[in-house]
Amino acid sequence: MGLVTTKEMFEKSMKEHFAVGAFNVNNMEIIQAILDAAKEEKSPVIIQASSSAIKYARVNYLMKMIEAGVEEAGVPVAVHLDHGPDFETCKMCIDAGFTSVMIDGSKYDFEENIEITKKVVDYAHERGVVVEAELGKLAGVEDDVNVEASDAMYTDPDQAKEFVERTGCDSLAIAIGTSHGAYKFKGEAKLRFDILQKIKEKLPNTPIVLHGASTVIPELVETCNKYGGNIPGAKGVPDEMLHEASEKGVSKINVDTDLRLAMTAEIRKVLAEEPSVFDPRKYLTPAREKIKETVKHKMRDVFGSSNKA
Ligand code: G3H
Ligand code: 13P
Ligand code: ZN
Repeated sequence: MGLVTTKEMFEKSMKEHFAVGAFNVNNMEIIQAILDAAKEEKSPVIIQASSSAIKYARVNYLMKMIEAGVEEAGVPVAVHLDHGPDFETCKMCIDAGFTSVMIDGSKYDFEENIEITKKVVDYAHERGVVVEAELGKLAGVEDDVNVEASDAMYTDPDQAKEFVERTGCDSLAIAIGTSHGAYKFKGEAKLRFDILQKIKEKLPNTPIVLHGASTVIPELVETCNKYGGNIPGAKGVPDEMLHEASEKGVSKINVDTDLRLAMTAEIRKVLAEEPSVFDPRKYLTPAREKIKETVKHKMRDVFGSSNKA
């Protein structure tokens, strides 16, 4: 099947009311786990790398490892740059064979965000690559940008419509109460579904993206803490809310933190229970398995993307 853009998977997601999972990667085990999960669930999937993941693993290594698994997966797979910080990084990824890029202009004011997004759209579209943009600000850490909760800003539906029309972006990341990382809510989890609904009314044909959408799976946090970790009070977006979002017009749901937790929980467990182990395969094999299980659960039970390949 080969790599694809997100165009067709998003069209299907909007018609059939499900979301495609976009999972962050930075090494071989994570890539394999996601592709194996997608294959077993017969689900379309987006594999994404941030600019810091690219700095860590190098763009060509990531690209070649993803390409190596795509044929065998036999499902639609898009390769996406997550939170592209500038035109140059987007260009590098497009030139390296990514089928989709995000330009994250959310740190700029409205007009500057439009300007930089449009520049990336022009370059990408000429090469058959699609572009995700962001309007509104999520609290938390986005790559090198650290947004304080007090500076976070919900997306304005009217601005969203103008933004999409003026930039020609293919999908739009919105801020409705999620945030990046393991500490999303101090009290009750709350998402502004009313804002999502207004945005969908203004932009019925634009795929909507939800960042900062990890559940921060309690069992994984518990396992990390049980075996020497220190992640107190971590809290994410409950599965039911993500399911609701996927039915109400969110086409792409971004997950990084849950995969980090899955991997770390298993590695901690093996190393704590078997102190004599020093062969990396002994802890990376169960870690890969746990990531696969986590991704499969999301596709099947939360996002509704199983059997949509
Ligand atoms: O949105 C941020 C993603 O979780 C990527 O994080 O920049 O640490 O790779 P990173
Ligand atoms: P989480 O930190 O909730 O996994 O969000 C990941 C994300 O939005 C990547 O862009
Ligand atoms: Zn994000």
